[in-house]
Amino acid sequence: MARVALVTGGSRGIGAAISQALKAQGCTVAATYAGNDDAAAKFTSETGIKTYKWNAADYEASKAGIAKVEAELGPIDIVVANAGITRDAPFHKMTPEQWKEVIDTNLTGVFNTIHPVWPGMRERKFGRIVVISSINGQKGQFGQVNYAATKAGDLGVVKSLAQEGARFNITANAVCPGYIATEMVMAVPEKVRESIIGQIPAGRLGEPEEIARCVAFLVADEAGFINGSTISANGAQFFV
Ligand code: CAA
Repeated sequence: MARVALVTGGSRGIGAAISQALKAQGCTVAATYAGNDDAAAKFTSETGIKTYKWNAADYEASKAGIAKVEAELGPIDIVVANAGITRDAPFHKMTPEQWKEVIDTNLTGVFNTIHPVWPGMRERKFGRIVVISSINGQKGQFGQVNYAATKAGDLGVVKSLAQEGARFNITANAVCPGYIATEMVMAVPEKVRESIIGQIPAGRLGEPEEIARCVAFLVADEAGFINGSTISANGAQFFV
């Protein structure tokens, strides 16, 4: 039986590449999105991957959405918590709203995505969880106190889940992308972006497919002993 995979934020950017890589690996994929109906419809028509709309920051919406996916596609075996946003500002200018929006989506959203599928994974004694963290959760980033806090939090989430899930054959791992050529990075002012690229020894931004490769590796049936780990894919910009 094909594994069923849920990818949040799975119709654009890194998430879209992950959805496609998992489909290519034989999974039945459900890709979620929060708002961009046009991008989701285009993604489905180009890839044949079903998309589902809900806000990862909303627990009840996540629970209902996940129930719908499971009714249509079967029990979820693989969760890739990828949905994330930025609200960059230096700390002295950061508003409580900018803090809260990022925490709600990037960190509470990870809880909301994993918590409803966890009991089923325990019962079936199989699960693969990957949380998309960031280089900036590892090293911090000027202008990203909120985002870096969530991405560092992701690492605590997977290390704890790994310990709780191991005896049920559930793994939880993190991928820390560096700067990848997506709309999120393209939204950084050009001058700042150029200076960031100057700090990447590879001399370029990463490609979404280079992150999808890490995820495909971690969610394989054969990857059961890789648990609680972090894969960095950042063009040699930062080492833990
Ligand atoms: N290090 C040190 N100083 C910096 C700096 C940096 N990285 N960036 C800006 N500054 C300085 C500025 O030069 C300026 O100094 P002066 O006042 O002496 O001129 C001061 O900080 C304040 O700058 P601004 O008033 O211009 O600040 P701003 O309100 O315009 O905000 C910013 C600036 C939004 C933080 C902008 O610098 C920015 O977008 N930085 C990029 C942040 C970033 O890397 N985001 C990643 C997005 S992609 C992503 O998140 C994906 C992922 O996982 C990697």
